[in-house]
Amino acid sequence: MSILVTGGAGYIGSHMVLSLLEHDHDVVVLDSLVNSSLEALRRVESITGKSLRFIEGDIRDRELLDRLFAEHNISDVLHFAGLKAVGKSVEQPLHYFDNNVSGTLALCQAMEAAGVRRLVFSSSATVYGEVGTMPIHEGLPTGTPTNPYGRSKLMVEEVLKDLVKSDSRWSIALLRYFNPVGAHESGLIGEDPNDIPNNLVPFISQVAIGRREVLSVYGNDYPTPDGTGVRDYIHVSDLVDGHLCAMQAIARQPGIGIWNLGTGQGYSVLNMIQAFEEASGRDVPYNIALRRDGDIPECWADPSKAERELGWKAKRNLDAMMHDTWRWQVNNPEGYRS
Ligand code: NAD
Ligand code: UD1
Repeated sequence: MSILVTGGAGYIGSHMVLSLLEHDHDVVVLDSLVNSSLEALRRVESITGKSLRFIEGDIRDRELLDRLFAEHNISDVLHFAGLKAVGKSVEQPLHYFDNNVSGTLALCQAMEAAGVRRLVFSSSATVYGEVGTMPIHEGLPTGTPTNPYGRSKLMVEEVLKDLVKSDSRWSIALLRYFNPVGAHESGLIGEDPNDIPNNLVPFISQVAIGRREVLSVYGNDYPTPDGTGVRDYIHVSDLVDGHLCAMQAIARQPGIGIWNLGTGQGYSVLNMIQAFEEASGRDVPYNIALRRDGDIPECWADPSKAERELGWKAKRNLDAMMHDTWRWQVNNPEGYRS
């Protein structure tokens, strides 16, 4: 049996594929390469000494999906494929809903037709919207995400919940990621933003290496200890371990499982700058800018449900996240184009 990883050439997907190969799974990757490079998967093969099957294509291509399920004996689908740039989702909502929502519908229809009913979906803490008290646990109702990207995640969650209600043979994990950062310890694969990074850690890292001059800190007047935004940053390798545990859990028990994947620890933007400076030995110049539209003051997880039900807990600390990001950045100053 094989595991299908949609979006497996991307940042998180490539780390997932690496781990699956290390655990002796057969892996089929479907990726359109719209936001990734095949080089990531070449490196995954070279790190693990194992090969995978790669299919270049789009999750919205139903014929391709039907062929894929007919030709490969798939037991589980790990669904990472999606567009994730918040700003672009505001400019191109139709494109984002089509890709993220219609794409998932096509995937589920093809799975249903092929009798494959185990799915792990990459959701996001953004589905909680703005929550008054921290930490955030899964019992809280979902809120109002502030942008089309976030709403696309919430819509998919609703679709998948209805699917499980309609047919109890489905087993689905909704994994709500907090802020994934870091890179594989080899320094050979990592996050490789196409454009100017939107997210904090890739931006800090590009400032430290000299690709960008200065970091803008979006607001220092939040009601947080130092006034800057607080988030729950989680090492991508811990996140991947969470998927392995979720796969086992949904194989044991059909239905829907919702789990936060975070560390439970919040760090401010200034904490992150300092930790990165210590790990890299470089200065990260910054200035204080206005708040970014749609940002919330703070967000961190209560990860105890995942620990209780999946036996999973994040192990890597902030120092490891920063050292691993820096190793990837230094080895690959221009990402996979280096
Ligand atoms: P990424 O952009 O690096 O990876 C996504 C991959 O999906 C890319 O390789 C891209 O080429 C592919 N893809 C996109 N649309 C496709 C389509 N229609 N058909 C086939 N392939 C397609 O992003 P990532 O950071 O690895 O994120 C993976 C998933 O996790 C996404 O669904 C994202 O929304 C979700 N997520 C990410 C974060 C984060 O901070 N990185 C946080 C929460 C949730
Ligand atoms: C953002 C998205 C969220 C998405 C997540 C993962 C927004 C509003 N939210 O979350 O939907 O799921 O990425 O892709 O875009 N910061 C700076 N300067 C920067 C970049 C960020 O000060 O150049 C600050 C932000 O204000 C925030 C923190 O750093 O306080 C983290 O930002 P970021 O990495 O973009 O993640 P989120 O905002 O949590």
